Amino acid sequence: MASLEAIASQEALESHLRSQTRRWLVTGVAGFIGSHLLETLLGLGQEVVGLDNFSTGRRSNLDDVRQRVGAEAWSRFTLIEGDIVAPEDCAQACQGVQYVLHQAALGSVPRSIEDPQRSHAANVTGMLNMLVAARDAKVARFIYASSSSVYGDEPNLPKVEDRIGRPLSPYAATKLFDEVYAEVFGRSYGLQTIGLRYFNVFGPRQDPNGPYAAVIPRWAAAMLAGHPCVINGDGETSRDFCYVANAVQANLRAALVESPAAVGQAYNVAVGGRTTLTQLHGMLAEALRAVRPGLEVEPPRHAEFRSGDVRHSEANIGKAERLLGYRPEFDLLPGLRKSAPEFLSSARP
Ligand SMILES: NC(=O)c1ccc[n+]([C@@H]2O[C@H](COP(=O)([O-])OP(=O)(O)OC[C@H]3O[C@@H](n4cnc5c(N)ncnc54)[C@H](O)[C@@H]3O)[C@@H](O)[C@H]2O)c1
Repeated sequence: MASLEAIASQEALESHLRSQTRRWLVTGVAGFIGSHLLETLLGLGQEVVGLDNFSTGRRSNLDDVRQRVGAEAWSRFTLIEGDIVAPEDCAQACQGVQYVLHQAALGSVPRSIEDPQRSHAANVTGMLNMLVAARDAKVARFIYASSSSVYGDEPNLPKVEDRIGRPLSPYAATKLFDEVYAEVFGRSYGLQTIGLRYFNVFGPRQDPNGPYAAVIPRWAAAMLAGHPCVINGDGETSRDFCYVANAVQANLRAALVESPAAVGQAYNVAVGGRTTLTQLHGMLAEALRAVRPGLEVEPPRHAEFRSGDVRHSEANIGKAERLLGYRPEFDLLPGLRKSAPEFLSSARP
């Protein structure tokens, strides 16, 4: 395997992957991030098994990937329609797999406040089932989606990995349990795990619909439909918005990194900046005007703060840079510009 220095650039990472076909499992493959992992891996000549129960994932995401990668690449993909809450589905999916990229979970803080047991089943029991299956199948490495929500009420900015506060929602608690289980599986069974604390990932194929939709696709749909966007709170709430290609890069690097010091850890995955919701509103309008010139955007409406939301979020990405060689390729505005054509094509007429 090439050393981390040798795969420092994005091109080197991609050609390193192309040089050998490996077998990957992506759970949550029909979801937003999972479908981007699938697209990238198939595009780089890899074999992928996908596991999804289509609870929040969409068949149209997989159709879109198939169209983009073409028939030859698509023939290297096997879909298992199953549930991570069922241990036998996890065991089947892990057979013969070298790398697990575990994305399946029920996202959204408000969803977990409404129904904590359902979030726990998918996010904690499902994760534990996946760890057991990965251990039994002797996979080389288990990469899993954690979340910036584990920082909870820790007040300092930017967030550094070893200083977390108390979780502010059932969702945050589930992701914290995931990190504890991953670490324990390293200690108890020698399973190599790496956790990725995603910070507000956005991009094409992110679902704009429903009460639990993320802010960027929801606002893009509202702006294109001529409706005002709703800002929860005063607009000064801030986030470290991360274009999905950066999250894909972090997964690939986490799977391939050689250094033992990099394993058994959790990493911030973000760009290392902070944008307020009011600023985001202006930037998104600008990105959409590039694909729909003359778009008139209504001024935003303000609503109550949402319970469970943290006020500010900004990552220090130094640890991922140092140990994984992670270099985010896209800042917020370039990411919005890359997403805008898809926001336009998926907008309701
Ligand atoms: N998008 C973000 O900003 C963000 C931020 C932090 C963490 N995360 C985490 O990243 C991961 C992927 O998030 P996403 O934004 O792509 O969400 P998503 O809802 O688009 O994808 C999740 C996928 O998991 C599947 N799934 C859910 N429960 C399942 C189960 N029991 N069995 C099998 N499949 C199941 C869903 O059908 C869906 O396809 C999740 O673990 C999420 O908690 C995402």
